[in-house]
Amino acid sequence: MSRPDLAGQLEFFRDLGVSHVDAGAGRTPPADEGAADPETLEAIRDDLGDCRRCRLAGHRTQIVYGSGNPEARLVFVGEAPGMDEDRQGLPFVGRAGQLLTRIIESIGLRRDDVYICNVLKCRPPGNRNPEPDEVDACSPFLKRQLKSIRPRIVCCLGTFAAQTVMGMKSPISRLRGDFHEIDGIRYIATFHPAYLLRNAAKKREVWEDMKKIRAALMEP
Ligand code: URA
Repeated sequence: MSRPDLAGQLEFFRDLGVSHVDAGAGRTPPADEGAADPETLEAIRDDLGDCRRCRLAGHRTQIVYGSGNPEARLVFVGEAPGMDEDRQGLPFVGRAGQLLTRIIESIGLRRDDVYICNVLKCRPPGNRNPEPDEVDACSPFLKRQLKSIRPRIVCCLGTFAAQTVMGMKSPISRLRGDFHEIDGIRYIATFHPAYLLRNAAKKREVWEDMKKIRAALMEP
């Protein structure tokens, strides 16, 4: 897969004085030889079906399962689909999603190189916070997706994804920026792109987190 235009990649972080990016980070290696075959993303999607496991089914337009490279070394997990995602059936396609694309490109990757999904696969009405029983019903599918992809790194976007996926209760300002290894996968959290749209000053921290991710992807 060709790299995105290098000159365009750093546009989002340019005001921080960033002028260099290592292309080639995060190339997808061949699947581990000898490891047991996990179930495929397609099989998990089939099992999800026309999901009615929680009340959100009655509100959604489309299930937003996830999209990207099924062998990605880097997975981004957000909270839940918003209005644009609910309409299109794809994660992170609204304004926050466009910002996420630029953040991904800032470390020399394309959206197609990574996998993007959410803790919840259906939009909560009015974008309210997810309820615990909705998370209980939906998160087994996220866990199976991560097991299928077996990424090197999972980056949780925002408080809700970070607390749910990493199982910690601290605020995002404390959770972000450090890797936590669980079952051979390195989890890191950063600010949600929707939050960045409202708080541009947090860009610097996101750039620090992305540099850590890029460095970890480049490790042998
Ligand atoms: N916010 C999220 O957390 N996920 C999306 O898919 C879109 C916006």
